[in-house]
Amino acid sequence: MTYSASSLNFKQEVDQLYKFDVDNKLFEPWKRLGYGAYGAVMSYKMQIDGTISHVAIKRMINIFNDDLVAKRSLRELRLLRLFNHGGGHPNIVPLLDAFLPTNENESNFTDVYMVCRLMGTNLKQKIINMKCNGVMSTEQQQQFIQDTMRQLVAGVGYIHAGGVVHRDLKSENILVRGNDDKKINAGDVKLGDFGQARPLIDTGNQTINDTDNQIRRKPVIDTGNQISDFVSTPPNRAPELMQPNAMNDKSIDIWSLGCIFSELLLLNENNLFTANLEGTSSGVQIDNRQRDAIAARMGWNSINNGVLSFDKFKQRFQKVLPLADDNALDLLRRMLTRSPTDRITITDIAEHPYFSQNGGAVTITSPSSEVQQLLQSTDIDQIAKSTFDYVKETRNVIAQRSWNELFHQKIVQEIRFLRSGVL
Ligand SMILES: Nc1ncnc2c1ncn2[C@@H]1O[C@H](COP(=O)(O)OP(=O)(O)OP(=O)(O)O)[C@@H](O)[C@H]1O
Ligand SMILES: [Mg+2]
Repeated sequence: MTYSASSLNFKQEVDQLYKFDVDNKLFEPWKRLGYGAYGAVMSYKMQIDGTISHVAIKRMINIFNDDLVAKRSLRELRLLRLFNHGGGHPNIVPLLDAFLPTNENESNFTDVYMVCRLMGTNLKQKIINMKCNGVMSTEQQQQFIQDTMRQLVAGVGYIHAGGVVHRDLKSENILVRGNDDKKINAGDVKLGDFGQARPLIDTGNQTINDTDNQIRRKPVIDTGNQISDFVSTPPNRAPELMQPNAMNDKSIDIWSLGCIFSELLLLNENNLFTANLEGTSSGVQIDNRQRDAIAARMGWNSINNGVLSFDKFKQRFQKVLPLADDNALDLLRRMLTRSPTDRITITDIAEHPYFSQNGGAVTITSPSSEVQQLLQSTDIDQIAKSTFDYVKETRNVIAQRSWNELFHQKIVQEIRFLRSGVL
């Protein structure tokens, strides 16, 4: 985020984000962990079963100011709850609890808090540390990358088996808890930030609703200052998302996973595909620049139509990805395939020689059939569709109020289910 406001205003804004309304008899604030367009995350000390534990609390702020944010928050809470049911999955961030602000009630709350297991850092930070501290040998770095990818593939495999697409896979949204004494260990790697995630209902293919796919541009706290937090197109977005009527498919996660894989393997750069966005103002311009940047880097043209032979791919990328052996290069090539239908799937990734010839294929498990059924009925658009469409068409105040009420109830219901363990 870039803020044009003065640094003092900026500091005040950030301080506002971290004004958490939580029960201070239960939670003792510890450290600020990060913030984004939708909220802030902070660690707390708390008593669990008589022992002191550290947790991460995510504050989702002003969720009813904007219909899309309300839907996003409900999806995140519900999907994380379902993925954590029955012990969860080792590569998905554990959701421990959720609650409303202590000073607000079930019908007027504006924020929601999610309590997650505290992780050490995010993968972006971990990669920076790994590249900077220079203590690892090449073999150790390769092992670290393998180990990280193995866990990411297991995590993505689990959500894809449940029919859900994450849609925002990037290294900042991957949480890592390492054994810091041994920096060469990948530690525990878990998928986080399910704010963009959504189930694929019925056909497995859905057109993304344009507004739903927009990046939030408004600051979460509006204090009347001149703030510009124009967010660029994330470099991990699949090329097919940069055209009208993009399909919402599992293959978009595979592209993003390929971008993370390349981030791990890159030597002197952070991203393979960073467009120069200077002077761009519209979303369409950004998309075009980003798409051009991808095509130029990949050497795609109308002749090869985005499918590079292994030799061509190797020629292009071996120098910038010196940690990649032939198997790693081949896997990356298959993940960064232009056509979503030709792109490798997560189950094929799990069995690719990059893993199978080095420690064995990755095991992918599925959520229980009960959880899968519920995931498939988690179409938040559907839940709210009648009132939502009505609100949009008529801008009717009463309809807006009933929509708000419905969403307040849905969030309260999620918290109840989460606390009781009921599905
Ligand atoms: N359980 C956790 N343990 C440690 N750090 C965490 C945890 N959850 C989140 N963080 C940190 O907080 C940052 C923001 O978290 P998250 O991505 O969930 O929030 P967000 O507001 O949705 O952000 P964004 O604007 O990127 O969507 C993460 O990048 C990570 O560094
Ligand atoms: Mg995030």
